[in-house]
Amino acid sequence: MTASATLALSTTDLRKSYGRQMALDGLSLEVPSGVVYGFLGPNGAGKTTTMRLLTGLIRPNSGSISLLGRAFTGSQHDILHDVGALIESPSFYPHLSARDNLTVIGATGRRAAKARIDELLELVGLTDRAGDRVSRYSFGMKQRLGIAVALLNDPKLLLLDEPANGLDPVGIVNLRDTLKALAAAGKTVFISSHILPEVQQLADIVGIVAAGRLVTQGPLEELLTSQALIRVKVCPEEVAGASEVLSKLTGGGSIETQDPDAVWLSARIAANRAAEVNRALVGAGIYASGLEAGSDLESLFLQLTAPPEPTMQPTRPGAIPGWNSGVES
Ligand SMILES: Nc1ncnc2c1ncn2[C@@H]1O[C@H](COP(=O)(O)OP(=O)(O)OP(=O)(O)O)[C@@H](O)[C@H]1O
Ligand SMILES: [Mg+2]
Repeated sequence: MTASATLALSTTDLRKSYGRQMALDGLSLEVPSGVVYGFLGPNGAGKTTTMRLLTGLIRPNSGSISLLGRAFTGSQHDILHDVGALIESPSFYPHLSARDNLTVIGATGRRAAKARIDELLELVGLTDRAGDRVSRYSFGMKQRLGIAVALLNDPKLLLLDEPANGLDPVGIVNLRDTLKALAAAGKTVFISSHILPEVQQLADIVGIVAAGRLVTQGPLEELLTSQALIRVKVCPEEVAGASEVLSKLTGGGSIETQDPDAVWLSARIAANRAAEVNRALVGAGIYASGLEAGSDLESLFLQLTAPPEPTMQPTRPGAIPGWNSGVES
């Protein structure tokens, strides 16, 4: 995708199993510098495992990692000085305040100045409660503190495993603004998330992983456009005319469903061209009785991570339909 010199993070054929459980099955990622990269996948897909490998918390069975242009084997702590991370539930010293946690944690890396700590407490909205013991914090407040810790050393590369977990709407908006500002300032943000509309607003590039393998990776706009679909509903006698209009715009339209009264035609056209499609149809004297546009990240995600067609299995008592995709039982 990009020359390796401009990649902030890459992995090559990364494999990791926990005993007999395969977590990563040859994962190769390319994360260019200065972008927000959305790392997506169903539960159990291997996102946290990837984050733990990238910070040296665990070692891969095979494969390699490059961080900020250097090979990382898990022990180069100087590389990690330029990497900030929030992985699963962050752990703190519960009897210390948020401010003291930042001071102590900062002391283990490059020492953070008091001004920096004040700035971070303000950024994550904890200033008013900065003196309270962390053991008295709510879940979301701990998550906010975790984000502050990840930012403490002003990292060039930020690894965030579901940072929006537990945040209230204001916290989510602030996080989004912060991450966008960091990327605009040239930092790289690698973020896993389950909140797809959020990722759609935030990420420049997405990688989707399922069962430890990458299923797609690329600029978000390109992925959405490649999956985009516009559907128009016309009456049967207008099908030929409507097909011609769609063909001119895209190079092809196809009949999706047909009944005696109406026909749905679909074509691969980006959602933001819906008005243009409508105008072209009207220009040809065709008034569509229905027009639907779009592919969003959610439908792309669902399509790409769909489990294989299930074989016939007896229904287990108490099984909840739809909740077994991607999760090992
Ligand atoms: N410590 C562990 N011991 C055994 N298996 C593990 C361990 N940690 C993870 N796994 C397994 O590895 C696979 C990937 O797990 P991982 O936590 O990386 O997924 P994830 O993508 O972060 O999921 P989630 O969206 O639920 O956070 C799963 O099958 C999981 O059961
Ligand atoms: Mg996880």
